[in-house]
Amino acid sequence: MRTPNTAPTQGELERQNQFMLKIAALNDKKEKRPRFFINTFGCQMNAHDSEKINGMLRKMGYLPCEEEKDADFIIYNTCCVRENAENKVYGNLGYLKHAKKENPDMKIALCGCMMQQPTVIETIRKKYKHVDIVFGTFNLYKLAELIWTNIESNSPVFDIWDKHEEIVEDLPTVRKFKYKAGVNIMFGCNNFCTYCIVPYVRGRERSRRPEDIIKEIRALADDGVKEVMLLGQNVNSYGRGLDEKITFAQLLRQVNEIDGIERIRFMTSHPKDLSDELIAAMAECDKVCKHIHLPFQAGSNDVLKRMNRRYTKEHYLELVDKIKAAIPDIAITTDIIVGFPGETPQDVEETIDVCKKVRFNGAFTFIYSKRTGTPAASMPDQIEEKEAKTGFNKLLDVVNPIVHELNLQKVGNVCKVLVDGISSDPGFVTGRTEDNTLVHFKACEELIGDIVDVKITDCKTFYLIGELQ
Ligand code: 5AD
Ligand code: SF4
Repeated sequence: MRTPNTAPTQGELERQNQFMLKIAALNDKKEKRPRFFINTFGCQMNAHDSEKINGMLRKMGYLPCEEEKDADFIIYNTCCVRENAENKVYGNLGYLKHAKKENPDMKIALCGCMMQQPTVIETIRKKYKHVDIVFGTFNLYKLAELIWTNIESNSPVFDIWDKHEEIVEDLPTVRKFKYKAGVNIMFGCNNFCTYCIVPYVRGRERSRRPEDIIKEIRALADDGVKEVMLLGQNVNSYGRGLDEKITFAQLLRQVNEIDGIERIRFMTSHPKDLSDELIAAMAECDKVCKHIHLPFQAGSNDVLKRMNRRYTKEHYLELVDKIKAAIPDIAITTDIIVGFPGETPQDVEETIDVCKKVRFNGAFTFIYSKRTGTPAASMPDQIEEKEAKTGFNKLLDVVNPIVHELNLQKVGNVCKVLVDGISSDPGFVTGRTEDNTLVHFKACEELIGDIVDVKITDCKTFYLIGELQ
């Protein structure tokens, strides 16, 4: 691993443009344009990074393809938050070894969080020699240069940095959706929750300048985007470290003023940093959706302490009460981990108690996954998977019926839905209500991208069924 010796600047972006053009010239001359396939693992941040990879590859003259098997350039944008995401990457790489024998011109690139771990790089160097290009989370913008180096040297290129320098603005981006978009407002995390690998692979927290964010969102609105999702590992601490004094609440108010944008979402919020100022901004800004994703992870104060979450169960519940009082019909979703080292069945009961009290509209529930290098990995009393599974199932038996009950309460209501795709049921489309619940209803696909009124007629546990009004 190395520290970059040149700070990426806007001049650097121009340099990368030159590499993109050189590669495009090569691809132009080919009989058939090479095709690329991006396999994205993990969170919204990675999904958004993949849109930048897509934009850069297109600028280099590659064409996208629907299936990995048809691709000449395959790139995995990896995640390492839990072990199973890593195992999938290794499994797929094993398969690609055979695919590359059949198509020796195929190039394989790996990037993202998993690549920031030295043990992973060692494994790739030793066992996966068919990989051509490897880079990490801090130098995504260098993709063109790395491809060029690989073409020129015809040997594997590894370029992993151990820290971030400046933020490179204005990378070419191809968005997955025309009418909704993710916007990074900050990168990295300083919280060091003891189970979490993110601070080690995404580096320290750094915020983008508000003027850059606003400029990007204005351009998105001009391009037809109606919904933006402001992205950061901990959006509530947005602004720290910037020369200009600005809080996340103030940023939200600025975004709320942008013409053309109709919905504003954000994630993720850390309970310890959620201010009264933010709750007030959410309540007062008409475009901010009535939904908050507020991970609580565990209900036991002992477990929370050992997780280094820096709040208590009581503080979390008070916060939820405050939010519900200020924004009465808000939907609250969360993340929960079961099986943290030393967690007892009584501790899991505390988690279940929080779920009963808050009544979450949705919960991402995870079994604790030991991540080498994090403090929790060397804590005593690691829990057997079987035991964790018992607590996990018990939790789901409480969480899911509540989600269903809350959805049932919506039957009969007319909701505003942003239509975002075609359902697997023929003739049906899917969309999201303002509180982020999925709705299936009969309509033609021309409505994709529109915000329409839908009457809710029925519901399943995880989605609503409706009729277009
Ligand atoms: N094991 C299980 N879940 C984890 N998460 C983060 N690290 C781990 C881990 N080691 C979960 C947390 C976080 C979400 C994005 O992933 O719940 O909020
Ligand atoms: Fe991981 Fe905690 Fe940072 Fe979220 S806040 S990314 S869980 S360390």
